[in-house]
Amino acid sequence: MALTSSVLHRSKLPDVGTTIFSVIGQLSAQHNAINLSQGAPNFPCDATLIDGVTRAMQQGHNQYAPMTGHQALKEVLAEKVATLYGQSYDVASEILITGSASEGIYAAIAGLVHPGDEVIFFEPAFDSYAPIIRLQGATPIALKLQLPNFTINWDALRAAITGRTRMIIINTPHNPSAQVLSHGDLVQLAAITRHTDIVVLSDEVYEHILFDGRQHHGMATSPELAQRSVIISSFGKTFHVTGWRVGYCLAPAALMEEVVKVHQFMMFAADTPMQVALADYLHIAEHYLSLSRFYQQKRDLLKQWLQDSPFRALPSAGSFFMLISYADFSDEPDNDMVRRLIVDHGVATIPLSAFYTDGTDNKLLRLSFAKDESTLQAGAQALCRVRPR
Ligand SMILES: Cc1ncc(COP(=O)(O)O)c(C=O)c1O
Repeated sequence: MALTSSVLHRSKLPDVGTTIFSVIGQLSAQHNAINLSQGAPNFPCDATLIDGVTRAMQQGHNQYAPMTGHQALKEVLAEKVATLYGQSYDVASEILITGSASEGIYAAIAGLVHPGDEVIFFEPAFDSYAPIIRLQGATPIALKLQLPNFTINWDALRAAITGRTRMIIINTPHNPSAQVLSHGDLVQLAAITRHTDIVVLSDEVYEHILFDGRQHHGMATSPELAQRSVIISSFGKTFHVTGWRVGYCLAPAALMEEVVKVHQFMMFAADTPMQVALADYLHIAEHYLSLSRFYQQKRDLLKQWLQDSPFRALPSAGSFFMLISYADFSDEPDNDMVRRLIVDHGVATIPLSAFYTDGTDNKLLRLSFAKDESTLQAGAQALCRVRPR
């Protein structure tokens, strides 16, 4: 029996409901559809990693980890970042292990954004940014990425900056557009933020998934931007363990101090056995350096299998997402299209309008190719059976 509460309360997020991912996931399960909607792999992680966690538990690593993270994990991360991106982060004061990238994003925004501040981000966007900004009493300012390649309009960014702009949120590789920032983009961002107190919150959870030989242009690759950036990443995305909820955050000590204050009271510390296992696993660089190759194969297969469908695949430069367009054959709202694909064709996707606060509908759907080959093929076959009408 449901409880009935007589407590009067005013919602802090009255317009926020259950995330689109849960809604589509449920509908997909209800119709037994092939689920290409959620950004979670449906294949197992490396058994070595599971053995590592098991071993860590058996060896007694079952109590609180140090508040900012397991020392060995922070050390190996510092090495990885220095080697890959050329930036040194101090293990004691500039690296934080978080309970997922989501927690890191929350802690960074809550720690650094004040009531009345403005935070600029780019849409389509990952769904957590705007609600977290609002929960701080700050104002989210959404700028639209420019189609067809979802590029940042630097003039629009320059024009949107006011005396109250406290933070700019960047995401590369980008969910949901699957585009990545270039070195030229970082040069623009550095020029725009120079001589300001703007913090860059850089969501880089797909840092190890870039295609066709592209390099990751994260904030740690720019000595200037690294000075004002909080970088967020996620082991869940890199090692196919999205359920483990472990991520990390890099920032100069003065910014990190404030992020850590929030983390301290949200999580205190991330899961200990996972951190111990990840520390060992990260010593082999191939474990993350092989990821681009692994996902590029999936991207290419999906693209090939979609060739006979009426949908047009947009280029995917990074992440494990691909957008497909149906603008050539239908002007149906994307929410209706997604529902129809689940109910009539047994395949679940995400409508791109869900990533815009104003529901912009460009007749685009997001597919995740973090799936095994048989799922990808079955999903593509279902999309090939769609007839334009
Ligand atoms: C762009 C982006 N940021 C953050 C996250 C959250 O990552 P985590 O699962 O580690 O919380 C996701 C997950 O889908 C994402 O796509």
